[in-house]
Amino acid sequence: MDFPMLHLLNHPLAAHVITHLRDKTTKPATFRTLCYQISLLLAIDATRHLPTEEKAIETPLEPMTGRVLAPQPLVVVPILRAGLGMVQPFLDIFPDVSVGYIGLERDHATAIARSYYCKLPPVAGCRVLLVDPMLATGGSAVKAIDVVHAQDATNITLVSIVSAPEGVAEVEKHYPSVPIYTAALDRELNARKYILPGLGDFGDRLYGT
Ligand code: PRP
Ligand code: URA
Repeated sequence: MDFPMLHLLNHPLAAHVITHLRDKTTKPATFRTLCYQISLLLAIDATRHLPTEEKAIETPLEPMTGRVLAPQPLVVVPILRAGLGMVQPFLDIFPDVSVGYIGLERDHATAIARSYYCKLPPVAGCRVLLVDPMLATGGSAVKAIDVVHAQDATNITLVSIVSAPEGVAEVEKHYPSVPIYTAALDRELNARKYILPGLGDFGDRLYGT
């Protein structure tokens, strides 16, 4: 499979964390910690192209010119509910980030996502990181990208933990210039549109429902 916009996290720690997330014996408290850890790794990976600018400083020994992040507004947008579990690491490493929320829920029978909530800061001219742990059919991701794209976000990046090839293809079909950062590209969807081997229902496992 050739997915030009897919960036797969390649790190032994990511493999370790993903395996424990997948394990059905992992309980919600541990699941939440693992979710934080993998999301932190993804946050670092997905922002590797953020612009920087020079800054003159003095170390205790001599003056030097370092680099710091250029002041471009960054907005992280979790797709509720499961995406909430991925937000904290972005807040921890980018203290000036703004947070918006898009609520989407898949219908159990059709797997088509229904929108139930949207609260966004101004995103025009901003870099937007859409975060959702599961990219299955891609229906939720495309709906969420539609929303921020319609509000003139300059630069949209999708960050997921586990992706199905079907979902990546769907996003690339609708938005070929949106990069997708993920920690695992799984085999396929099952008849109920769950990812195989996957990890089950992320939201249920995160919140013990
Ligand atoms: C899950 C997941 C994604 C969506 C992915 O959410 O968090 O948002 O399914 O599936 P898709 O690619 O086929 O659209 P769900 O709808 O189960 O809601 P939840 O986060 O409230 O559990
Ligand atoms: N949503 C999930 O939480 N898991 C899947 O496998 C597919 C959609």
